[in-house]
Amino acid sequence: MCGIVGYIGTKRAYPILIKGLKRLEYRGYDSAGVAMISDSGELNVYKAKGKVDNLTEYCSDKDVSGCVGIAHTRWATHGEPSARNAHPHYSRSHNLAIIHNGIIENYADIKTKLQDKGVEFKSDTDTEVLVQLVEYVMVKKNLSLLEAVQVALHQVIGAYAIAIVDKRDPRQIIAARKQSPLVVGIGQDEFFLGSDASPIIDYTDKVVYLEDGNIAVIRLGEEMRVMSILGEEQELQVKTVDIDLGQIEKGGYEHFMLKEIFEQPECLMNCMRGRINVEGTHVTLSAMIDYRQQLLGAKRIVIVACGTSWHAGLIGKQLIESLCRIPCEVEYASEFRYRNPVVTKDDVVIAISQSGETADTLAAIQLAKQQGAFIFGICNAIGSSIPRATDTGTYIHVGPEIGVASTKAFTGQVTVLSMLALCLAKERQTVDDALYQQMVVELTRIPEKMQQALKTNEQIERLAPIFTYARNCLYLGRGYNYPVALEGALKLKEISYIHAEGYPAAEMKHGPIALIDSEMPVFVIATRDRLYEKVISNIQEVRARGGRVTAIVTEGDTQIQKFADHIITLPDTLECFQPLIASIPLQLLAYHIAVCKGKDVDRPRNLAKSVTVE
Ligand code: AGP
Ligand code: GLU
Repeated sequence: MCGIVGYIGTKRAYPILIKGLKRLEYRGYDSAGVAMISDSGELNVYKAKGKVDNLTEYCSDKDVSGCVGIAHTRWATHGEPSARNAHPHYSRSHNLAIIHNGIIENYADIKTKLQDKGVEFKSDTDTEVLVQLVEYVMVKKNLSLLEAVQVALHQVIGAYAIAIVDKRDPRQIIAARKQSPLVVGIGQDEFFLGSDASPIIDYTDKVVYLEDGNIAVIRLGEEMRVMSILGEEQELQVKTVDIDLGQIEKGGYEHFMLKEIFEQPECLMNCMRGRINVEGTHVTLSAMIDYRQQLLGAKRIVIVACGTSWHAGLIGKQLIESLCRIPCEVEYASEFRYRNPVVTKDDVVIAISQSGETADTLAAIQLAKQQGAFIFGICNAIGSSIPRATDTGTYIHVGPEIGVASTKAFTGQVTVLSMLALCLAKERQTVDDALYQQMVVELTRIPEKMQQALKTNEQIERLAPIFTYARNCLYLGRGYNYPVALEGALKLKEISYIHAEGYPAAEMKHGPIALIDSEMPVFVIATRDRLYEKVISNIQEVRARGGRVTAIVTEGDTQIQKFADHIITLPDTLECFQPLIASIPLQLLAYHIAVCKGKDVDRPRNLAKSVTVE
């Protein structure tokens, strides 16, 4: 997510900050801003919606003097993308400015308390709450900036990388991090800050990667200090960066797609952040509080989406029907919009879209709206067209997805659908308490289990060359794993250009079985669930026709290895959450096969990341 840049030294800060922001553009963002303490001691903050170029244009007639500054590219989570919500944010007195990457979960509580004390807010962000809180405690308790930051961070729940400047002390920047990355570059009489080393490496190769829960005190003319939030001094660990820009952008991975596959555990934690309580016992979605009546009143739910988002919808349908007992249909948005569907005001239409710009999904929303349905959006890109066209919704908060083949957005969508189904079921009393508890706890364990699933990467990399010869592949799964099979096949098609079909395993005998021979790889998702024995029978049907089976199984499985050529083992979880785990080896498989074939994984031919045409 987003980008942080900072500079303090003897050179002019502005060009360094702007160049740094451009280096971080690859991360995706919706607005940008800078704050500099000018030569005359003013703290100037300039912000613009859209590209960094818009910001430089805006700054063209402004005072951009000064040798200390912080800069930010924002990927909105709280408050629409706009110049007003862009960072840096001033404190009330305009003495302080902050930039922040991450989410302050308890911002609403803190904001209310500060408002009660008379603090006025200028933006809708969670970030502004932090700078106002820092200033409030600074004044109230007569603290230094460092002490105030320590006190404020103590009260904050969430994830952050922050940098703060105070115009009364232009020789200092305070930075801190928890679960969001932050790097400090150490030069000759100068320091740099970056979300990663890319804005820094032009100037120095000496860096300190700030650890979770640590604060950096960067003072000109002094050695940088690192301490915990509690004030315990930490040993300074200076490292030498020896990777190039391209590698840094991709977090050390060869492609964005691989980086995004590996990011999924963290993304899902962000997705659940502030929605599942810290104890892991309860799910709350703000949409469910604000639009309780409309959502609980649904006589039917219709999910509209395209591609991968449609696959997530198929999983959502199973969750909603089994937990909430509300009839649910899933439609390709492109079909729905042209088939004169029956939609009533008792329907809730859920539109799922990573980009929030898909033309077919937008048109389906317009049609459902005209017929009086209540529209709920599940999107990633904040402030995009779909969230603006819906009545309410939930963002998946997985950060910008750069690879054209969707990976982390899919698991984010399934996670939001799981939380939505749990909320609805609880309110409708269609789920008993024990199951609800078990599901919520299990959902919070998914990131850890995903981490385990990612350990299959090396095995899959070794297997991949076997499949590069294939011209067709079949993916089989049942129940919750059927959409996983569809998604696995779509991933392979998109990036390796091998034809692949996803099928419900039992349907195979009604046709596709005719295709099976020793030339055709068959991938079967055979994790342990209600349909396990039946899937084993389906595997045997494939084997009997000479088919080559690669099975995705649950750890401890002893049966399937007798029938499969290769097995990939995954941690156990509840059946309904299996897609979150089982999709990982299939993403990796598509990725490694495409790499073996020398394809352009991040930019596959003929595809666009956001399909804004019919
Ligand atoms: C996913 O890998 C695809 N590139 C594609 O199917 C995508 O999911 C589809 O175009 C929908 O996009 P959206 O989620 O942005 O609406
Ligand atoms: N939550 C903050 C906001 O919405 C920061 C988002 C980011 O990481 O860019 O402004």
